[in-house]
Amino acid sequence: MAQRPFIVGNWKMHGTRAMLSEARAIDRAAQRLMQVEIALAPPFTLIHPVRREAEQIGVGAQDCHPADGGAFTGDISAAMVADAGAGFVILGHSERRETHGEKDKLIAEKGKAALDAGLKLILCCGENQEKRDSGKATDHVLRQIKASLPADIEDPVERLTIAYEPIWAIGSGKAASVEDIVEMHTAIRAFLVKTFGEEDGAGIRIIYGGSVNAENAAEIIAGDEVGGALVGGASLSAESFMNIVLAVQ
Ligand code: G3H
Repeated sequence: MAQRPFIVGNWKMHGTRAMLSEARAIDRAAQRLMQVEIALAPPFTLIHPVRREAEQIGVGAQDCHPADGGAFTGDISAAMVADAGAGFVILGHSERRETHGEKDKLIAEKGKAALDAGLKLILCCGENQEKRDSGKATDHVLRQIKASLPADIEDPVERLTIAYEPIWAIGSGKAASVEDIVEMHTAIRAFLVKTFGEEDGAGIRIIYGGSVNAENAAEIIAGDEVGGALVGGASLSAESFMNIVLAVQ
């Protein structure tokens, strides 16, 4: 059976309790749009409140610490985000790689902690403009995935999603072309098949992120091997987010 498109809103560092009305509106609309799988990743402080509002949509975190607990001031463990109501975590986002200096090894450790805590994993990858211009984007992205994947993922089709996000497309208003997205997703698919075997490798979702909006979403998601979208800016209002969902349903 074909998988439903997976549309995930990443609120990044946006949102106070005033934003709960947006989550509520998204959840109510999602109840009538079962042919699309919808999820939100609010900041840590809103995971529990959004989870309480949400009957239909998935709720996830934007990060977790690799350790179970301990003297790590300001950090949040995977078990804590699961306890707050998260069902998945986004790891390896370029904003964390860049502003927090996160390296592949740490991301793999976080991924293991997340899976051990029962969370699903959205693992991000993507090249910067320089890598794209030099023709090394695919090599870079495949190397990144290989190095940041946790080992021995059980039931990877259910528990792992790869999010391809070219850094130059994030928040720029300039999404990658469908042709470039499909080319990269096809290379990622071949890597997944090699790594997880024919059946699991073919089933793991690969979603695209970077300036997705209601105007370009349908065309992007119709591309081969594009299983959904990771949406930043356009997920901050229920109206613009649900317009994306409506466009791809
Ligand atoms: O996680 C989401 C991505 O970074 C995309 O953000 O839709 O604002 O370009 P954007």
